[in-house]
Amino acid sequence: MRTEQPKMIYLKDYQAPEYLIDETHLTFELHDDHTLVHAQLVMRRNPARGAGLPPLVLDGQQLELLSVSVGDSELSPADYQLDDSHLTLHPKADAFTVDTSVRIHPETNTALEGLYKSGKMFCTQCEAEGFRKITYYLDRPDVMSKFTTTVSAEQHSYPILLSNGNPIASGPSEDGRHWATWEDPFMKPAYLFALVAGDLWCVEDTFTTMSAREVALRIYVEPENIDKCQHAMTSLKKSMRWDEETYGREYDLDIFMIVAVNDFNMGAMENKGLNIFNSSAVLARAETATDAAHQRVEAIVAHEYFHNWSGNRVTCRDWFQLSLKEGFTVFRDAGFSSDMNSATVKRIQDVAYLRTHQFAEDAGPMAHPVRPDSFIEISNFYTLTVYEKGSEVVGMIHTLLGAEGFRKGSDLYFERHDGQAVTCDDFVKAMEDANGVDLTQFKRWYSQAGTPRLQVSESYDAAAKTYSLHFHQTCPATPDKAEKLPFVIPVALGLIDAHGNDLPLRLQGEPQPQGSSRVLSVTEEDQTFVFEGIEAKPLPSLLRGFSAPVKLSFDYSRDQLMVLMQHDSDGFNRWDAGQRLAVQCLQELTAQYMENQPMVLDPRLITAFGTVLANHSLDQAMVAEMLSLPSEAYLAELSDRAEVDAIHAAREFARGQIAEHLYGALWQRYQANRAISRDTAYVPEAEHFARRALQNIALSYLMLTAKPEVLEATLEQFDACDNMTERLTALAVLVNSQFDAEKAKALASFAEHFKDNPLVMDQWFSVQAGSTLPGGLKRVQALMEHPAFTLKNPNKVRALIGAFAQQNLVNFHAVDGSGYRFLADLIIQLNALNPQIAARQLSPLTRWRKYDPHRQALMRGELERILASGELSSDVYEVVSKSLA
Ligand code: TRP
Ligand code: ZN
Repeated sequence: MRTEQPKMIYLKDYQAPEYLIDETHLTFELHDDHTLVHAQLVMRRNPARGAGLPPLVLDGQQLELLSVSVGDSELSPADYQLDDSHLTLHPKADAFTVDTSVRIHPETNTALEGLYKSGKMFCTQCEAEGFRKITYYLDRPDVMSKFTTTVSAEQHSYPILLSNGNPIASGPSEDGRHWATWEDPFMKPAYLFALVAGDLWCVEDTFTTMSAREVALRIYVEPENIDKCQHAMTSLKKSMRWDEETYGREYDLDIFMIVAVNDFNMGAMENKGLNIFNSSAVLARAETATDAAHQRVEAIVAHEYFHNWSGNRVTCRDWFQLSLKEGFTVFRDAGFSSDMNSATVKRIQDVAYLRTHQFAEDAGPMAHPVRPDSFIEISNFYTLTVYEKGSEVVGMIHTLLGAEGFRKGSDLYFERHDGQAVTCDDFVKAMEDANGVDLTQFKRWYSQAGTPRLQVSESYDAAAKTYSLHFHQTCPATPDKAEKLPFVIPVALGLIDAHGNDLPLRLQGEPQPQGSSRVLSVTEEDQTFVFEGIEAKPLPSLLRGFSAPVKLSFDYSRDQLMVLMQHDSDGFNRWDAGQRLAVQCLQELTAQYMENQPMVLDPRLITAFGTVLANHSLDQAMVAEMLSLPSEAYLAELSDRAEVDAIHAAREFARGQIAEHLYGALWQRYQANRAISRDTAYVPEAEHFARRALQNIALSYLMLTAKPEVLEATLEQFDACDNMTERLTALAVLVNSQFDAEKAKALASFAEHFKDNPLVMDQWFSVQAGSTLPGGLKRVQALMEHPAFTLKNPNKVRALIGAFAQQNLVNFHAVDGSGYRFLADLIIQLNALNPQIAARQLSPLTRWRKYDPHRQALMRGELERILASGELSSDVYEVVSKSLA
């Protein structure tokens, strides 16, 4: 907890470090009630900072300093200054060693940052600024050092002792203890340091790299989870091969380890050679993890592995550059997932997520550029903007340069900057230099926040046979800047003729058409492109594959959208046309509801969905995506004022209508797929994901009719299936139904069966927290008393509180303010336990400006109550104070 007012840190103030640390030698003595850390730092003056010997200011927080020496002489308190976040020394020479000993308390560390205990195991989380809670250090990513680490612990409880790099020595010591020494040959910043000690089992495998080196692969878990590691191991090997084939990147140590821990603030962490994972991002097997969980494990294993190059070999100069590694690595893992599964479905899911959540962030009080200019607490900037929008920005570079040009750029980037700590500008410069292009204007994507609007209008000249598209771009004001300069917006598009075929595209001045789907660069506020040789007015298919993270508007009629849904050669745009049609219909229903009129659904939506359902040549995963109505959260994001009750009523009404009118087709596809699932052993592969996706969305529609045959089918699926995907869907449809007896029975039997599996119990909590039936808050409060629930475990907080506040809009936004009060009370508690988690759970309250005046006042009131509640962490302070500003 802070003692001073938190300070804003600015990118413009960046200065290279005054001193460097060439070598770091650490010794950890782990005990049950404390840990001793000895650090020897081999240091020198940074020659880049010129002559002179300024004070050496080491970072350190919550450390009990036991001794400090420079060279051979131990310092007395008169020789140094100590405050709650620094130790300041006064070097007398250009090169010297610093030795410190500190005592720390991992056993009481509930913030899960630095060294802490998860269950019986010791583990670390150092990114971004957690290493300073372990020892005094220059805890900044541009200080890179060679680490040697010795860990000692009691042998019986902690038989496994791990750190980064290669094991070089180990042995027993007195009193039943033992020790191990690890050496990491690669220079790295402190945020990539890791240590693990525990009673762990491991699954082992090997990988032979492109230059024929054999790498040992190990996944360490607590013994009861040893049967849930195979999927992560398979994913790891696929990732290693893919990075060789796609980016020419080879792994560089002789061993690669993953450790699964139950208590973890995020998904996983790319520590050099020793990735530490939230167990939810490693463990997966048919009986306990859904298809979505399997795909998430595959993606996160890949993401962390890919960081070995995009993050570790080439790292960030400062934390403002976070997207350098995160945006690029998300882009890389998305490419991998697309290649492993259905590329179109992956794109649809990523875009739906971006448009719902990142667009909302970009329109709220925490909006910031992909490369922020300032922050109070860096942990608050591991955001959708830095990750997901950052990945879109890299993706636009890929689109502009083409696959080959992009690869030339990434090769140059890795070669030029290997072993360095660099900036987003360095990344773009490598792309420019490798391709001979100028991306100066493009770089505004890194410095300007907010989601650009792109309004498109058309005109057709029948006599001249020309078709013109006019683009007008704007970008709303955000807290950092009111006025924005035009972006470079790559717009992939096609023009469709009356038969649904793509026309050849020839722009004015071009002798030949340049294909039938192409990318235009919109670079000005207003810009017109004229296509020639167009015999009849075409239908434009715009922003194919979502080629830029913008809000594109074009005045499509519903009939035109139905044509695009069926005929667009771009799979993503077929889906998007369906979403646009559904948004129009749902907004109409919302307005009817608000005006107290009877709701009438445009029958074209049902016709369109019926056509999709009847299409047996379409990938079933695509069918499932196309049958999914836009989420309530997305509909809220699209509206100026989020009328949660009306949105919910409208969407439920539409779902009911679809279920009723398409009952026969849904039932037929459900039964056909369930029959195959019944006879097929679980396989975590795209074709099987697709079958179950369609089966399950069909079931969730069918259950809205409450027909006895559907209840029977649901119970059959719940009882007889062999996998969590089918079981959890059956549970979810029961939980959202009026079949109270069956619901209670299913919930109880599920909990009884899985009570010892915390990850499965998280799903049980989530399904209930997400139920939009009346009484949501009461159910959540009751579940908080369940023995499997604890506020100390971030997965539990996310499963119950996060699911309620972020996905259950009607219940969370109850007009009496009870949901808001509940969340604020929890945040005050979490602030003291785990500031990172507390700050993340705040996000629904930060969006208060989206709601009606009554709710606005209630939400503001809760934010003010949090602000006044006492000593706030910098994490919570930053989010609350910016939201109220
Ligand atoms: N670098 C991690 C990633 O791959 C992010 C991360 C893991 C993290 N744990 C963290 C960030 C704790 C902040 C705090 O995305
Ligand atoms: Zn990452």
